[in-house]
Amino acid sequence: MHRFLLFSLFSLISLLPIVSSAHKVTLSLSPSAASVAQPLSNPWQKLNQLVIASLTRAHHLKHPKTNISVTKTPLFPLSYGGYSVSLSFGTPPQTLPFVMDTASSLVWFPCTQRYKCSSCNFPNINSANISRFIPKSSSSVKILGCKNSKCGLIYSNLECNQCDQNSTSCTETCPPYIIQYGSGSTGGLLLSETLVFPEKSVDNFMVGCSLFSSRQPSGIAGFGRGPESLPSQMGVKKFSYCLVSHRFDDTPVSSELVLVSGGNSGGANGTVKYTPFRKNPVAFNSAFQDYYYVTLRKMTVGGIRIKVPYKFLVPGSDGHGGTIVDSGSTFTSMDNQVFELVAQEFERQVGKHYPRAADVEKQSGLRPCFNVSGEVTKTLPKLIFEFKGGAKMELPVGDYFSFLDDSVICMTIVTNNAISQGISVGPSIILGNYQQQNFYLEYDLEKERLGFLKQICN
Ligand SMILES: *[C@@H]1O[C@H](CO)[C@@H](O)[C@H](O)[C@H]1NC(C)=O
Ligand SMILES: *[C@@H]1O[C@H](CO)[C@@H](O)[C@H](O)[C@H]1NC(C)=O
Ligand SMILES: *[C@@H]1O[C@H](CO)[C@@H](O)[C@H](O)[C@H]1NC(C)=O
Ligand SMILES: *[C@@H]1O[C@H](CO)[C@@H](O)[C@H](O)[C@H]1NC(C)=O
Ligand SMILES: *[C@@H]1O[C@H](CO)[C@@H](O)[C@H](O)[C@H]1NC(C)=O
Repeated sequence: MHRFLLFSLFSLISLLPIVSSAHKVTLSLSPSAASVAQPLSNPWQKLNQLVIASLTRAHHLKHPKTNISVTKTPLFPLSYGGYSVSLSFGTPPQTLPFVMDTASSLVWFPCTQRYKCSSCNFPNINSANISRFIPKSSSSVKILGCKNSKCGLIYSNLECNQCDQNSTSCTETCPPYIIQYGSGSTGGLLLSETLVFPEKSVDNFMVGCSLFSSRQPSGIAGFGRGPESLPSQMGVKKFSYCLVSHRFDDTPVSSELVLVSGGNSGGANGTVKYTPFRKNPVAFNSAFQDYYYVTLRKMTVGGIRIKVPYKFLVPGSDGHGGTIVDSGSTFTSMDNQVFELVAQEFERQVGKHYPRAADVEKQSGLRPCFNVSGEVTKTLPKLIFEFKGGAKMELPVGDYFSFLDDSVICMTIVTNNAISQGISVGPSIILGNYQQQNFYLEYDLEKERLGFLKQICN
């Protein structure tokens, strides 16, 4: 009955809160792709891992299966290239890393010494050294009660049968959650706990205490539009971030995640352009309600307009199609028909100057790739997204072409080729974090709009 979307990711870099004031909380945000940083002999294999991760993620966002209270999601490969943030819970505070995700809403952590995680042996972490929240070390933890209004955020038609209607001392707890993944799961109990920032604490914060999972070496901080998300529970009016380049995946470079609950946000140097968020018209698949949809009006490659059918640009009355912004996807993914239009235009324009690198395309899973033989001497076509309200996102070349290798460049936008026949399921265009690098992005929840501004983030 209610959205309850989770997914599995991997995060390593632990970060510390830096600044905070009564109305503003600032956290540092780092690429959490250290897991990708396994010394693969071939940089294209690393990109290929990110391609697979992006496609798996896209599949999950497009096919969220919503049950009574549970969403099934597919497995996320550990090579996931997300961004991670540290949050502190409890009294005294326990600080843990979370993957920051704008396409889901629950906040949960691996919980108790007995947290069991199967298939959790990754290069940089194993099931023994996963950071866990220890409830018995906190004096402020409570199991979320059935009658706690927070419980009702997730289980909207919940009847607390064991509770005497008039009793104030009901001991019935909010039902446990179980989330099944494509090849894994997580589950646990909902807690009411204090979320602690240096100068501000949020009491009665609903957080998931996962006791078992598969492939979940860190928690997830849901920043989606659901009432259980971190911004919703904190009453945040806007939050913003500026993602440092994925070039820093292996280094402890971070940028700020700013949560503003009043006053002036600051942050951006320049004029932020805005485009309104839109709601998915269909509420039946509640996971779609968690997503930040924007209205993409126009896409150009080297000044040439890509003629994208309208149904892909905005969600239709059936709820499918449209464009979302997602911090949890690495590469932007597009439905096949849209991708073909974009890829073919790049192939046409860039192909005039450089030969295709078919081998690298095969190894990386990216397309098109060009052999630039050492250096890019010709100007690459500009990729521009134009949104409702006239806000234009002119992407830095590094956001849509990868320069990992000296002689070859590849377009870092992906598609799931299995999707064809023009049937669109879920969002058609998912703007991933690779395409958000070196942009200041502001999620203005009060005015229901997305703001962005190109700037260097580190
Ligand atoms: C969730 O949905 C699946 C498949 O539709 C079903 O088998 C399962 O019993 C459902 N779980 C609950 C708790 O309803
Ligand atoms: C966890 O254990 C693995 C394997 O033993 C090790 O390589 C890694 O450095 C450890 N990670 C942390 C964060 O301690
Ligand atoms: C609860 O309160 C209502 C109204 O005050 C009363 O009619 C009802 O009998 C009470 N129920 C119980 C189980 O005490
Ligand atoms: C904006 O500019 C000021 C002063 O130059 C600088 O301190 C601040 O970090 C900049 N903010 C961002 C988000 O780049
Ligand atoms: C790129 O082209 C150069 C010169 O033609 C060639 O030597 C090199 O092997 C090519 N690289 C790849 C990865 O195809």
